[in-house]
Amino acid sequence: MDLAELNKVANAMVAPGKGVLAADESAGTCKKRFDAIGVECTEENRRDYRELLFRSKGMANISGVILFDETIRQKAKDGTPLAKIIEQAGSLPGIKVDKGTKPLPFYPGEVITEGLDGLRERLVEYRGLGAKFCKWRTVIDIGPGIPSYYCIKANAGALARYAALCQDENLVPIVEPEVLMDGDHDTDRCYQVTELALKALFHELYLARVKLEGMVLKPNMVVPGKKSAKQASVDEVAEKTLRVLKECVPAAVPGIAFLSGGQSDLDATARLNAMNRLGDAPWKITFSYSRALQAAPQKAWSGKAENVAAAQAAFTHRAAMNGLASMGKWTPELEKKAA
Ligand code: 13P
Repeated sequence: MDLAELNKVANAMVAPGKGVLAADESAGTCKKRFDAIGVECTEENRRDYRELLFRSKGMANISGVILFDETIRQKAKDGTPLAKIIEQAGSLPGIKVDKGTKPLPFYPGEVITEGLDGLRERLVEYRGLGAKFCKWRTVIDIGPGIPSYYCIKANAGALARYAALCQDENLVPIVEPEVLMDGDHDTDRCYQVTELALKALFHELYLARVKLEGMVLKPNMVVPGKKSAKQASVDEVAEKTLRVLKECVPAAVPGIAFLSGGQSDLDATARLNAMNRLGDAPWKITFSYSRALQAAPQKAWSGKAENVAAAQAAFTHRAAMNGLASMGKWTPELEKKAA
């Protein structure tokens, strides 16, 4: 393991003004997104869509791109590997290496993320394909009687084993323990579950001898469930999220890059911005969004070649707004001016 190199990559991923684009939707998730805009989910359409993102000006605010297995092997229309286009844009290619979730036996309603078997060999191959970092996502749902401590502990253990393997192969692990915002729970319940998940995670990372200087944490924000009657203000989300992170995340972690998790584009930007305005955090705080960066360009594109420029403009706008938010320099006025 080359910790100096891992630390350098981790710091580059969370550099001020930049964040990560999560473009690692599986073919199944991609189909859901494409269905919504009336586009057939073929390999070529997936390639064309991602190529337009990676060739857009918005990449100036993107430090790294998380790819799916299919995408890291794909070539653009002109034959250039997509990973190369990302590098040429000054960004780092990364790869999702988990194999998705399966029901956790004897724990109804809960899931475990799979993909550890043969992972070392896959990491070696992905490095050869240009990957500099990886992602593994675990999913913790909130509902009546869940999450169980067992679900939290089993998933934290898998995240720690994954992270150690990545570092041993000189790849920076993005460690993502996502507490879902489905359901009708309030902000304080989300706080409580997020705290438990993060405490368990950092305990397992310690036991696995993961070097915190060589990783990036990708957590959820502390938000109310989508079906909660009590929604939260931007300031409440920012204050509670920062508070739980300060309680749980050691200062040795270079950066925190949030998932958007189904928040609106504007909420995801405004809340990130508010956290950076509060300041005084020991780590960099930025984004690693999929939906909050891609919903607008997908809609603008709608699968039509003549819409490519409009889709690129929409992506560039969201990337720029989130880049500003990563420095606490976003304002609603800037959002309107640039739109
Ligand atoms: P969202 O920003 O759409 O939540 O996706 C981020 C991600 O990569 C989830 O693993």
